[in-house]
Amino acid sequence: MNNDLKVLPSEVNLETRRVLKQLTMSHKSLAELKGFADMIPNKYIIINAVIINEAKDSSEIENIITTYDELFKVMSSESYKSPAAKEVVNYRTALWHGYELIKEKKFLSTNIIIEIQGLIESNRAGIRNLPGTVLKNEITGETIYNPPGDKKEILSLLSNLELYINEDYDNVDPLVNLAVIHYQFESIHPFYDGNGRTGRILNVLYLVLKDLLDSPILYLSKYIIRNKTIYYKLFQEVRNNQNWEDWILFILQGIEKTANETLILIKEINDLMETTAVKIKEKLPKIYSKELVDLIFFEFYTKISHIKDGLGVSRKTASNYLSTLEKEGFLLSEKIGRERIYINKDLFAIFKKVGTRN
Ligand SMILES: Nc1ncnc2c1ncn2[C@@H]1O[C@H](COP(=O)(O)OP(=O)(O)OP(=O)(O)O)[C@@H](O)[C@H]1O
Ligand SMILES: [Mg+2]
Repeated sequence: MNNDLKVLPSEVNLETRRVLKQLTMSHKSLAELKGFADMIPNKYIIINAVIINEAKDSSEIENIITTYDELFKVMSSESYKSPAAKEVVNYRTALWHGYELIKEKKFLSTNIIIEIQGLIESNRAGIRNLPGTVLKNEITGETIYNPPGDKKEILSLLSNLELYINEDYDNVDPLVNLAVIHYQFESIHPFYDGNGRTGRILNVLYLVLKDLLDSPILYLSKYIIRNKTIYYKLFQEVRNNQNWEDWILFILQGIEKTANETLILIKEINDLMETTAVKIKEKLPKIYSKELVDLIFFEFYTKISHIKDGLGVSRKTASNYLSTLEKEGFLLSEKIGRERIYINKDLFAIFKKVGTRN
């Protein structure tokens, strides 16, 4: 139960034989995902869908549970209130914001980390400056770890981490470094809350920073939910026994597995977009356009104003398009307050299926 967190780099040899073997596989899966994601024509739309899904999964680790249904309602209507879904939307905002900053600055600073956490929590509490934050065993309530309590110490550990993130120490493989950085960030535990979610966003931003991904598309949240007990246990293994190997292997295996699953998922969405386009073209040639297909895939749902603005047609035409698409079974509408939203039910079904695929 100590709190003498060591600065980086670690003196331990991190790239053991088992780690090196796993690295080859993790890199292979990640490169395939990157290659496909770079190539798909509807890149932005598909990434956006994956991010919505990640926002939901990552928030679920923190017990912020919402349904897709609630989520779409909050996303589509200002007047719809659901605190849990709003938190998920905040997470998504934080993620996109972080991604844009990394792309622009090509540097992942402590300030960016603070901004991200501020958006997740939608407050400006910033770095902890009161002692008393401890990590407890969720079941027994026993204290497992005391993160550093002094603000100066937290800031100095963060600047050491910032250096480690942005420099390439000793040519250690960036995926190994990702595992090290995640451990270190969570152990510094710089905020009162939201450290897990912020740390999970940092993981993907780091992959982008190191050019292992171009788009923010790989998320370990689902893998962490499935393996939560071991994930928590391995933190302590590093802390108490310097067992970096098992921790690194755990993260690397997560990267391999998740990259494979994400590749399947984005191929599925891409296929659905293509077949939907063909079907609309065949059945409804008068209203078909690529832009219309894009609009009904964007954010899973659409509404009259989106079609009107997106296609530059009148409100009446937009409304006709949507009801025709609903009649033909492409969309399913629902009224929220005074507005009607149209859900892309096949896209929705893919994500529901992923949600239950364990
Ligand atoms: N023993 C430990 N040592 C270091 N970090 C830990 C340990 N146990 C858990 N953590 C990290 O702390 C995070 C939880 O911290 P916090 O509650 O501030 O974040 P959150 O985003 O609100 O929660 P969650 O991660 O559960 O969604 C976990 O996700 C994990 O990454
Ligand atoms: Mg929390």
